[in-house]
Amino acid sequence: MNQRFEPARALSGELRPPPDKSISHRAALLGAMSSEPVRIENYLNAADTNSTLAAVQALGALVERNGDHVVVRGAGLREARESQEPIDVGNAGTLMRLLPGWLASQAGRSFTLDGDESIRRRPVDRIAVPLQQMGAELTARDGRFPPLEVRGARLRAISYELDVASAQVKSCVLLAGLAADGATTVGEPARSRDHTERMLLRAGVAIHRNGRHVTVGNADELALEPLTVPGDASSAAFMIAAGVLVPGSRLLLGDVGVNWTRTGFLRIVRRMRGIVLGDLEQETGELTAEEPVSDLDIAHGVLEGTVVEADEVPLAIDELPLVALLGCFAEGETIVQGAQELRLKESDRIAGVVEGLSGLGADIEATDDGFAVRGTGGLRGGTIDARGDHRMAMMGAVAGLASREGVEVLGIEAADVSYPGFLDDVASLC
Ligand code: S3P
Repeated sequence: MNQRFEPARALSGELRPPPDKSISHRAALLGAMSSEPVRIENYLNAADTNSTLAAVQALGALVERNGDHVVVRGAGLREARESQEPIDVGNAGTLMRLLPGWLASQAGRSFTLDGDESIRRRPVDRIAVPLQQMGAELTARDGRFPPLEVRGARLRAISYELDVASAQVKSCVLLAGLAADGATTVGEPARSRDHTERMLLRAGVAIHRNGRHVTVGNADELALEPLTVPGDASSAAFMIAAGVLVPGSRLLLGDVGVNWTRTGFLRIVRRMRGIVLGDLEQETGELTAEEPVSDLDIAHGVLEGTVVEADEVPLAIDELPLVALLGCFAEGETIVQGAQELRLKESDRIAGVVEGLSGLGADIEATDDGFAVRGTGGLRGGTIDARGDHRMAMMGAVAGLASREGVEVLGIEAADVSYPGFLDDVASLC
């Protein structure tokens, strides 16, 4: 489906972004690994997180859904049921990377994970390598891509240093560590989102952080307290960008998750002199089980270019396309570096952003590990192809609202993967 987004006059209104996708995936998975039923309020009802509910059901968990709350009656940490059919992760990279962490410890049982065309282009060797070191057998197509077969085993605890800062890979190893024969440590080159660590702490697991290293002890069982999923900071980012870019705008966003490992984009916007008020969590050394929320107050303002370096990349990874868009409107140059991971997302987001925004009149070029944008104070408009990628579709829509001539987004339905109701929310602000 194609949709045109006309230049907007001032945006105004209040909304709550949809529930957090990363936290919803983790809540369903940890619920399935728990022995007692787990109640999850405000679970994201979107394609990606529905794939997770279907997957845990295929593995023996019972799922009851009532409006936006879900109860998962788990199969238990060591009791995932072997499924005859391949487990379909759909478009969900997080499910594809986290679930094998649990399955690897199901001694003597085999599972196959597969997904859509985009999933089949995304590497899984990054999780296969540590899980093999722990003793599981994993077989991927061409050694690297889904479908992925996991044969569970009794696992050995390991110490593992990640080559790239990836919360998905870190989480996978930590989940496997729960059933290993000792304490498992994961080191990351830069801090990435820590929802798994916080939720494991909430589930009574022995877990601690020491700088860039996290150590998890083995567990007999998980007992996850009921939880409420906060609003998704990455979904909110699209509305924040729209509010900052469209002259005269003033928006209020309620109950947004502000875990500091997710608010890199907000810090970047503030550095660009964008106006975003709210009570953001400060960097935490010690682990906490809380997922803090805040209301955010956003107003249009004049922006300045900035540089985003490797350390900041994992803290804003899904919002970097929006940094490029803001850069088009800013004074001076905006540079993102150390972000080669963007090439491995739902689409190649370096190529997609550079070709997409160039087509709308931006002065932007790709580098190996990011992009450089020279701000021209605005964007003409035109047509952009979402390439089946939800975040590219929503970036195109925001570009249209802030452009001079409007933007037609090809494949806007991709937005539903993480933000059901995106079009209604946009309409309510215009
Ligand atoms: C996610 C982590 C990020 C992010 C993805 C969700 C998660 O991926 O891009 O949308 O829920 O752990 P990487 O950590 O692999 O970069």
